[in-house]
Amino acid sequence: MSADGSLQISTLGNAENPYVYRPHYRPTFTDTWITMNPIEADRGADPDGHLAYLRLASQLPELGAVKERTYRALLGAGGSGVDVGCGLGVAVQELTACGMAPVGVESSRVALAQAQLAYPDGDFRHGTPADLPLESGTMEWYRAEHIYLQLSDTGAALAEAGRVLEPGGRLVLADPDIESALLSVSPERLARDIFTAFADWHRSGYIGRHAAELLRNTGFTDIRVDTVPVTFTDPAAAWPAALTMALAAARSQGALNDRQEAALRHELHERSRRGTFLLIMPFLITTARRA
Ligand SMILES: C[S@@+](CC[C@H](N)C(=O)[O-])C[C@H]1O[C@@H](n2cnc3c(N)ncnc32)[C@H](O)[C@@H]1O
Repeated sequence: MSADGSLQISTLGNAENPYVYRPHYRPTFTDTWITMNPIEADRGADPDGHLAYLRLASQLPELGAVKERTYRALLGAGGSGVDVGCGLGVAVQELTACGMAPVGVESSRVALAQAQLAYPDGDFRHGTPADLPLESGTMEWYRAEHIYLQLSDTGAALAEAGRVLEPGGRLVLADPDIESALLSVSPERLARDIFTAFADWHRSGYIGRHAAELLRNTGFTDIRVDTVPVTFTDPAAAWPAALTMALAAARSQGALNDRQEAALRHELHERSRRGTFLLIMPFLITTARRA
């Protein structure tokens, strides 16, 4: 811990581009939006912030169970497949180690360059979920983790998934159901308002609940929905993964004022000190098969 209270998390980032958690840093709505937005990151708005966010998404131990659940859904699906929104390429590398032959597709060129650097043997391509650089009917599986909630047109992305998958090909989607998050704080209603605002702030913040219906309407079969709760008892992981952005989103929508935020931060700080901090974010995992 440095003098200003910031904490460098050794498992995230590296010497040149460390991830730094600043407990007193209050990002504006614009900071948050840019960090999560691959197009703005490519325009040079905040590439380091974007990469730090992607590093977090791919390396936090708390999210390991989600990744594992999606890998298990694909076991036996065959070799060739696509990881859509592959970020820094971690899943591409891990699925390759499982004997599969993934193509990683990413819309951010900044992220793509990092993935290529980290895994020179990986097959990484530039593309978007609605426009994949793949031939029709050539993929045996399709995976998208933490992607669909960011898309404005989830129907177009699913139609594209149906195009690239071969008949019988397997699909797995994983997205948090943000509004259902559990944060131990009082009053409980404030936590609910914050996570409702955070879900609303995403382009498709409720996609996990609607994916089954959308898949059915797109012609997929064998649709199943499963839940993986992601439990954060370590505030140093929860703040950069969810809380910082949730509070910024809530403020931007008028769901949190200065007084409420100060009281909330104080309570969370006290809970952290006492070891009673708790945030649970449920992830919905939807699997299906192309008819
Ligand atoms: C939370 S990361 C997940 C990355 C990776 N799947 C993982 O789990 O590590 C979100 C990804 O979605 C991409 N993304 C965000 N908004 C997008 C959009 N509107 N269109 C296409 N991709 C987007 C980002 O570039 C980023 O790679």
